[in-house]
Parts: sequence; C-alpha cells; structure tokens
Amino acid sequence: MPDAFEVNPWEVKGLVDYERLVTQFGTQKIDEPLHRKLLSYGKAPAALRRKFWYSHRDLNFALQEFDRKQGFFLYTGRAPSGPMHIGHILPFTLAKWFQDVFGVNLYIEIPDDEKFFAKQGLSLEQIDQWVKDDILDIIAVGFDPNKTFIFQDREFIKQMYTPACRIAKRINGNLAKAVFGFNDGTNIGHLFYPALQIVPCFFEKKRCVIPAAIDQDPYWRIARDLAGGFGFPKPAQIHSKFVVPLTGMEGKMSSSEAHHAILLSDSPAEVKEKVTKHAFSGGRTTLAEHRKLGGNPDVDVAFQWLQAFLEEDDAVVKKLYADYKSGKLLSGEMKQVLIDKLNGFLGRHQKARAQAAKLVDKFKYSGKLAKRMWDFSDMANR
Ligand code: TYM
Repeated sequence: MPDAFEVNPWEVKGLVDYERLVTQFGTQKIDEPLHRKLLSYGKAPAALRRKFWYSHRDLNFALQEFDRKQGFFLYTGRAPSGPMHIGHILPFTLAKWFQDVFGVNLYIEIPDDEKFFAKQGLSLEQIDQWVKDDILDIIAVGFDPNKTFIFQDREFIKQMYTPACRIAKRINGNLAKAVFGFNDGTNIGHLFYPALQIVPCFFEKKRCVIPAAIDQDPYWRIARDLAGGFGFPKPAQIHSKFVVPLTGMEGKMSSSEAHHAILLSDSPAEVKEKVTKHAFSGGRTTLAEHRKLGGNPDVDVAFQWLQAFLEEDDAVVKKLYADYKSGKLLSGEMKQVLIDKLNGFLGRHQKARAQAAKLVDKFKYSGKLAKRMWDFSDMANR
C-alpha cells in the first residue's frame, strides 16, 4: 500500500508517520541515552526536551568529538519566498541553544536562488525583499555575531563555486532524480541547486551538525555519501517534526497559506483572530458533551503547539492535557492559553527584531567568521 503521506524538501502532504519516516529515510531516532546526554549539557528548550526534535544521524559522534575537544560546527538555513512563520524559527532556536551550550561557530545559508528555481511566479526581486525581512527575523534569535556568519548564495557564490563544482560533478541525473524526485521537466538551475546547499557542510574541517526539520534530509544523504571522498567527517543532523497548520494534524505549516500559519510579524489581534477562527479543536460539539466526555488533546492544534514547543513548563502541559481530557478545560479556554503564549513569544521576538537592522553588517560582512578566507584547499581536489 502506498504511504498516505509524503515528505520532500518542497512539500509535506498528509498525516506524517514519523516512525515510518525514520525507516524510510534511514535516520535514527534519538534514543534515551542520547536524549539524556544532550540534556546533560544545559537547560534545553521544550522542543528538545519533549522530543519534537526526534531523529538524527551521527549526533552521538558529534557529542563524543566535542567531549574529546575536537569540537564541531553548526549549519542551518532559510530559503526566502515569503514571511517566516513560527515553524521556520525553531531550527534557529535550537541552533542558538547549541551555540550557547557548546560555544561553536554557526553558518546560516540564505539561498536566495532555491525558491526562484523551485516555484513558479516568484521573481528574484521579490526574493530579495524577503531576504532582508527574513535575515532580521533570524538575527532576532540572538546569535553571537562573532561566531555566526549569514551568507546569501548569490552574494557569496565566488567562494562557494569551487567546492560546488566538486560536489556537482559527483551527483549524476539518476541520483538527483531518485533523491529529490526531479524529472526531465525540472529546470537546470534547480538540478544544480543541491550542490549549493551541500557546500556549507564542508565549511570547516570538523563535523558539521545541522538542525532542520526532517524535510531537508535528502540533501544530507548526498552530502554524507560525498564527505569521505573529500576527506571530511560525514555531516551530522538533528531532525524535527513539523509544526502543523492551524487547520489540523495533516501537512506542515506553510507561509503560502498565511491564514493557517502564525507569522512572526503577526499582531496580537491577528493571532487572536486566526486561532479563534481556524485552530482545529479536539473539543466536543456541545458544551454538555465536552464536560461529560472530555476533549481529545491529541488532535487539538492549540494543545499540540503548546506541548511541542511553546509551553516551557512541563507541569502546565501535563495539567492542560489532563484537564482537557476530563472535560474540565474547554476548547475556547485552551485556545486562549495558546493565544497568550503566542503573543508573549511574538512580542519578545518583534522587540528583538526591531533592534536587528544595526547588526546585519556584523553578521554578514564584518564579523569574525565573515572575514575568514575560505580557500577550501582542505577538500580533496578531484
Ligand atoms: P525553508 O526556508 O523551507 O525552511 C527553513 C527551516 O524551517 C524548517 N521548517 C519547518 N520546521 C518546522 N515546522 C514547519 N512547518 C517547517 N517548515 C519549514 C525547514 O526544515 C528549515 O530547516 N532548503 C532550505 C534552506 C536551507 C537550509 C540549509 C535549511 C539551505 N541550507 C541548511 C536547513 C539547513 C529551505 O528551503 O528551508
């Protein structure tokens, strides 16, 4: 029977079976010992504690190498094509935790080409506008500018092109078709793009650790196959699940359906309206029934978001679950808890974002890492 869901870097459809995806993609679940080890380094965000970050490749090796003082570096990214939503920011939040706890360098790719190739009707000029916006949202997360470098493909291409050539030569059409689902109608820009997303895996001759949702995994499969030939360790990953849209547990939150997503720029009134109107509820049809039979938190989007990443306090999550299930807490009340949490988070984010413009130069051009020269001479020249 074909799977009832689909996950690729451009689309997520249906109700994702995350256990199944681990087998399909050949990744590993974060098991108890690894989870305990991760949490032992410092107070982790709810999303890591509650296993919203649930799968990985070779993360255990990265931690061992850190313990042996060999270290590692971080890499993540964002391809602008619209405003960022609360799902997009999670890999950056985790990257910040890793940077704070391990004190490591972080490279942030802004592929200002990827969505131009992948989407119809989106111009490079439109992308450039979103690039500016998205970089401010990313800076607002609060990275160390001396240990973080944000770069755009179309600006940084001179340095990226040599390693991209080495990578591109090793990826033939059959592999690209099999891994990404490309076909004969795919434009050649899109066919080449994976080389550019793979390049930063080799920015330092240490293990690279990539926090991203599991949709990005196909790129890393190829990067890992190539690493040995270049004389580099295989890049490690930590994979998250998807923040679901307001409408329910299927698919992923997406900015192209803005009324089903919470954007980082949403005002308190917009949040209230979206959640009240669109958040799928696990409540019963009548108040009397809900009080008697209780609601279903497992499909209630408000509860799911609170549990996955928004509510830091474990005791509060436990109580919300129990009260909803017993019928003590109503759907409207659960939604209000979500609205308050979201508005608190967005208020803090927007305040930090308002201060971000003056830091752009430091992150992009004049920071410590930005000034480092990349010659990639470490990469086997074949
Ligand atoms: P993009 O711009 O589609 O998404 C940015 C990051 O957000 C994750 N993400 C989500 N996480 C949770 N819930 C969701 N609903 C959700 N939607 C998206 C993505 O997995 C991603 O981590 N090709 C990339 C850009 C990129 C990149 C990278 C990403 C370039 N280099 C290195 C990660 C690591 C892209 O289109 O991401």
